[in-house]
Amino acid sequence: MKLIVATRNKHKLEEIHAILAGLDVELHSALDFPEIPDVVEDGDTFEANAIKKAVTLAHATGCWALADDSGLEVDALGGAPGVFSARYAGEPVSYPANNAKLLRELAGQQNRRARFRCVMALSDPTGRAETVDGRCEGRIIEELRGAAGFGYDPLFVPEGFTQTFAEMPAAEKNAISHRGRALQAARQKWDHILKKS
Ligand code: IMP
Repeated sequence: MKLIVATRNKHKLEEIHAILAGLDVELHSALDFPEIPDVVEDGDTFEANAIKKAVTLAHATGCWALADDSGLEVDALGGAPGVFSARYAGEPVSYPANNAKLLRELAGQQNRRARFRCVMALSDPTGRAETVDGRCEGRIIEELRGAAGFGYDPLFVPEGFTQTFAEMPAAEKNAISHRGRALQAARQKWDHILKKS
């Protein structure tokens, strides 16, 4: 079957491609549909944004569509930055500015518990959608460490590890990350759908 992934991010696409390998899926992405405008991510939850992106793309293309939305939740900040993770320090989007703001907000804070979350939504061509969720628990450290990855990776140490996501090889991060786990859950839940031609 033909499946359109609602992202123009090649890194995400490669990750999704690797996890869906072996299925009879003809993978396309929003890159193949430059005429379709990006969806405004104005939902209050990761679920709402993922569903909006998947359903919009399914309606626009008449195909099955897969979308994700992800971000960081910090307990001491009441779950912030959450759905505002990309633009935490405002426009233009800047990873260093977001990380600097996070360190400021947590200055002197003992409770550093946090988690990355990723919700994936799969929509059929008529706009009926289902979701799966992946999360990775961990903590926010007090200074940036590591140069790999992106976003909040240099500040996030997953539970049971000593390295930040930005100090880990990509394969190690993908095996335990919120996105990796959501994709594994997607593969389990939707194998029967994705196998249909
Ligand atoms: P989106 O799901 O691509 O919109 O990502 C939202 C934002 O969450 C990103 O811009 C990052 O700031 C943050 N984020 C999501 N996943 C990760 C990750 O794996 N590492 C670091 N930051 C992430």
